[in-house]
Amino acid sequence: MSKQIATNITWHDSDVTAEERQGLTGQKGATLWMTGLSGSGKSTVAVALEQTLLKMGVNSYRLDGDNIRHGLNKNLGFSAEDRAENIRRIGEVAKLFADSTCIAVTSFISPYAADRDHVRELHEEAGVPFFEVYVSCPLSVAEERDPKGLYKKARAGEIKGFTGIDDPYEEPTRAELELPTDKLSVAESVQKLLELLVDRGLIDAS
Ligand code: ADX
Repeated sequence: MSKQIATNITWHDSDVTAEERQGLTGQKGATLWMTGLSGSGKSTVAVALEQTLLKMGVNSYRLDGDNIRHGLNKNLGFSAEDRAENIRRIGEVAKLFADSTCIAVTSFISPYAADRDHVRELHEEAGVPFFEVYVSCPLSVAEERDPKGLYKKARAGEIKGFTGIDDPYEEPTRAELELPTDKLSVAESVQKLLELLVDRGLIDAS
């Protein structure tokens, strides 16, 4: 993936174990990686999940594609290389949030399977739980919703390289969960995410 450029750097381990950290905060971290077309409902579901977890007393934090592109990733566009770097950085950031015992909820199109697999590997190497969540809906439904009017612009040729129109989206083949948002309500999607977290022992059923 990305090349190591800095030299003469040495990893410095923490004295605090994952168990000690979990004991302090009373929760376990994980990354819920939502992937799907623009307009599939990633951000909507993520916002609702964050609110629900908060009410349950579980600390979570949302990392959202459009938002992160206003700050940390403001120097990246939508070429394949820039999308890869976007996902690489957020994969690293989500891993840090999750390692700190937070439930990191990401909502990025993340159209390339290789980029998502790389994030999965990063988490596996660090022993941090990672769940790929495919927020699916037919392109026609996303285009019908068109909450930001971007599909219309892409069809009119005003945006080039728009995912689903003239740029690829590689569907996940091994997602831990699929949320078909053309069939599920937002509340039902949130419920399925909570069930996943309970099943994997990350939060208590309540
Ligand atoms: S990703 O492909 O690199 O994962 P990301 O999720 O960060 O994308 O950003 C996608 C958001 O950027 C879309 O929801 C949309 O609002 C906006 N956007 C602007 N241009 C494009 C484009 N060419 N393709 C996809 N999304 C775009």
